[in-house]
Amino acid sequence: MIRLENITKVYKMGDTELHALDGVSLHIKPHEFVSIIGPSGSGKSTLMNMIGCLDVPTSGRFWIDGVEASKMTDNQLADLRNQKLGFIFQQYNLLTKLTALENVELPLIYRGIPTAQREEMAKKALDRVGLLDKIHHKPTELSGGQQQRVSVARALSANPSLILADEPTGALDSKSGIEIMQMMHDLHDEGNTIVIITHDLNIAKQAERIITIRDGKITSDIDNRGDMADATNVKGSDIGDSTDGKAADLDADLKNAYINNLINDNTGGAE
Ligand SMILES: Nc1ncnc2c1ncn2[C@@H]1O[C@H](COP(=O)(O)OP(=O)(O)OP(=O)(O)O)[C@@H](O)[C@H]1O
Ligand SMILES: [Mg+2]
Repeated sequence: MIRLENITKVYKMGDTELHALDGVSLHIKPHEFVSIIGPSGSGKSTLMNMIGCLDVPTSGRFWIDGVEASKMTDNQLADLRNQKLGFIFQQYNLLTKLTALENVELPLIYRGIPTAQREEMAKKALDRVGLLDKIHHKPTELSGGQQQRVSVARALSANPSLILADEPTGALDSKSGIEIMQMMHDLHDEGNTIVIITHDLNIAKQAERIITIRDGKITSDIDNRGDMADATNVKGSDIGDSTDGKAADLDADLKNAYINNLINDNTGGAE
């Protein structure tokens, strides 16, 4: 489903080079439920942006469903993203001027699905997350947990082959966080492939496979299924504290870039 081979991402800041990803190789199979955990600045979001075709690596190759994405143009990547991927972000990234229904319709617009069918699919997705009574609400008229449920509905509305979530519970109270994680489990049970990025060990432990990243390198990759699995192999000290928030602003920029890209790309416009 996803294969990364020796992926690097180097940011040049003046004279210094920052290796945000330093030779990452990874294979994610269909129907896997994977968590990627690591301290702040370890490269989690950078990795998600690679897997999600939101950014291109400095070197290395990667494939999605057997198609080599590392050789694609920006437009081809945008198409691939729209066809195959669903995204959930910590800050929901809903468009504030649009209603819940319209937000969920966005990925469907980019897929060229006709209006009537689109509305039906979006309503189905919102029903799925228990928000059928809020479809005409704008994000500011919804609680954080509800906004994240809208973004889950948006991620799944177009039946993507892979759902990518970057700290999906990071901004939520614990009850809403549990609800969102339950949805991830349900989506996984229905056969979806899920990758969750987190710095919360309790979230990471819920996945079938736990990958730890540190300083841009994968430092462990643990099978967390069945009796033999032992997620406690991932020590708290492997993860470190991630409260410095250094990367948070950059993340916001990347996400804005993603939304802008979705809005302005080659799909004929959403407005
Ligand atoms: N656009 C950029 N320009 C320069 N450096 C960047 C850029 N984006 C990320 N970085 C740097 O790359 C490293 C990895 O960042 P990344 O956002 O992937 O971390 P993260 O693991 O997601 O952290 P967090 O848990 O805080 O979200 C950090 O040192 C960060 O400062
Ligand atoms: Mg991040």
